[in-house]
Amino acid sequence: MKQTGYIKEEMGANTPLCSILLFAFTLLNISHHSSAIAIEANQSVSLFVNASSKAPTKKIPETLFGIFFEEINHAGAGGLWAELVSNRGFEAGGPNTPSNIDPWSIIGDESSIIVSTDRSSCFHQNKIALQMKVFCDICPAGGVGIYNPGFWGMNIEEGKTYKLVLYVRSLGPINVSVSLTGSKQTLATADLVAEHVWKWTKMEVILKANGTDANSRLQLTTTKKGVIWFDQVSLMPTDTFKGHGFRNDLFEMLKDLRPGFIRFPGGCFVEGEWLRNAFRWKETIRPWEQRPGHFGDVWHYWTDDGLGHFEFFQLAEDLGAVPVWVFNNGISHTDQVDTSVILPFVQEIMDGIEFARGDPHSKWGSIRAAMGHPEPFDLRYVAVGNEDCGKKNYLGNYLKFHSAIKQAYPDIKIISNCDGSSRPLDHPADLYDYHIYSSANNVFSSAGKFDRASRNGPKAFVSEYAVTGKDAGTGSLLAALAEAGFCIGLEKNCDAVEMASYAPLFVNVNDRMWNPDAIVFDSSKLYGTPSYWMQHFFRESNGATLLASSIQPNPSNSLIASAIIWKTTENDKMYLRIKVVNFGSSSVDIQISIAGIDSNLLKSIGSTKTELTSSNLMDENSFQVPNKVVPVKSVLANVGEDMNITVSPHSFTLLDLLVNSNNIRTVGSSSVDKSSY
Ligand code: AHR
Repeated sequence: MKQTGYIKEEMGANTPLCSILLFAFTLLNISHHSSAIAIEANQSVSLFVNASSKAPTKKIPETLFGIFFEEINHAGAGGLWAELVSNRGFEAGGPNTPSNIDPWSIIGDESSIIVSTDRSSCFHQNKIALQMKVFCDICPAGGVGIYNPGFWGMNIEEGKTYKLVLYVRSLGPINVSVSLTGSKQTLATADLVAEHVWKWTKMEVILKANGTDANSRLQLTTTKKGVIWFDQVSLMPTDTFKGHGFRNDLFEMLKDLRPGFIRFPGGCFVEGEWLRNAFRWKETIRPWEQRPGHFGDVWHYWTDDGLGHFEFFQLAEDLGAVPVWVFNNGISHTDQVDTSVILPFVQEIMDGIEFARGDPHSKWGSIRAAMGHPEPFDLRYVAVGNEDCGKKNYLGNYLKFHSAIKQAYPDIKIISNCDGSSRPLDHPADLYDYHIYSSANNVFSSAGKFDRASRNGPKAFVSEYAVTGKDAGTGSLLAALAEAGFCIGLEKNCDAVEMASYAPLFVNVNDRMWNPDAIVFDSSKLYGTPSYWMQHFFRESNGATLLASSIQPNPSNSLIASAIIWKTTENDKMYLRIKVVNFGSSSVDIQISIAGIDSNLLKSIGSTKTELTSSNLMDENSFQVPNKVVPVKSVLANVGEDMNITVSPHSFTLLDLLVNSNNIRTVGSSSVDKSSY
């Protein structure tokens, strides 16, 4: 769905009646919250945390907080996927000629060079190639040819190396100069010289940059008369993460979140405006040269699909995150496959699961193995479609996918698009998908959304949450605080919610299709929005133990807090972590009382306080000031079972109290008083 000016409400409700009720509920929440938001200056409240061994606890799922990657805003093509050439096979206009070579452009004028597309490629799935006719007997000194500016400029960095691969053909000898060119100088160059290339020939060269320019381009030029065909031109930095093709700085931003899972590849990207433009996994595997690419008609751009089905699973593995594959269930925004003829679609998905999990000798597992990964990927979750509940064929199609997958892979958890938070689903599912995009007040007030959700049926997968609209700007503190409150609510309901992820993850500033986003970047720079940094406060929650806690009084409902016990992986240190969001505009003194823990076990040395706040609620980060709103960590003194802290207005505060004992409980118990969490 394309974002418009209106506030997008909670998705997943499956009938218009639900939507109306939801709207009424939302209005109530807004009025309730806006009248309640102001806390009186320096109000004192008490926060009780029960860490005693007899107190109820909940085990937080290892997957509770994860990430959602969608190919939106050039998140992958021109983003996380480090390929520098855009439209490398000249295929962006589709399989017929003339195709669209954008953003390739011509160097030279029509008296010396003519460029066109034809269907002469040696790759059967992507037949388009570029033909370059050079007429000049005495060509300009720099030569004539073509250039590719990448995705709004290639970031070429001094001392780094770049692997250029291209396919070339000509009836005569060739002498092609390949160069990486900045606005002021040539940064790297090499000559491709060959006598006999009348058959398609693969050529490779490593280019080492002798300067830096974030707005560079790749040029292919010649001073020799003749006809040359080019196809599948790729330029990759050699220092991608583990050589797996992920842009290092963007990858590190994801890694730092320590996501428990990664949902991919969309969103609406999976559905397509039309089925013919939906993401179809089989078109995105095998060597990159053989992939046809496709036009994502929801977000309106071409992808060469270098970041394909295999690479998504590789990404999950590299992040140590459980992969959650969202597949197209025969439904786009506009057209649908009838349930009576859905079986080929079902088979396609069964093949996709075999590709990920199958034996290396199986039909599709062997292709994965040939791509360099004989071990199966850890696929345990699949989602049947995206935001499709209530569409004519959803239920029928869903049931076909469900029965085929469960029969072959009983352990795979299946996620339904229908909202099961307030009433039972009318079909079998392990999880139900729930999306919320709304104002800050609504998102903060939705912290209790799952308080009354069933603990026995399917679990919730809050796969897309974010504050949108004017409260969010392009990533405000206000949005992050509301989301933090919402996430604390999810944490407290971790027996009803199994997974949650913010959306969208990435935006290339040159193609901001959706606003706001967690990570903002261009070809060379990046920063996290406050919503990105907010997620850092939940990194250690996965697999931790939730303790009972309550704030009293909390008359204005502008405070929310949780307490967990977590352990470091490296040295087994144990911490009691308290998180508090103050959504109000005054500071609050909090008297913290921790029951069941002796003050001697709490150590001031090693205990810390981390705060996310800023002087203005609408403050944002930017390329100019990337760290305006980021977590600030300080030493926490006077730690004890009874302690006082003051939380700033409009802030998110985290206390990590070092516990000098392993004697407090870290295992969940089931019969608990839910209200106390
Ligand atoms: O996150 C952006 C979009 O919002 C997703 O593609 C879709 O699932 C939702 O409508």
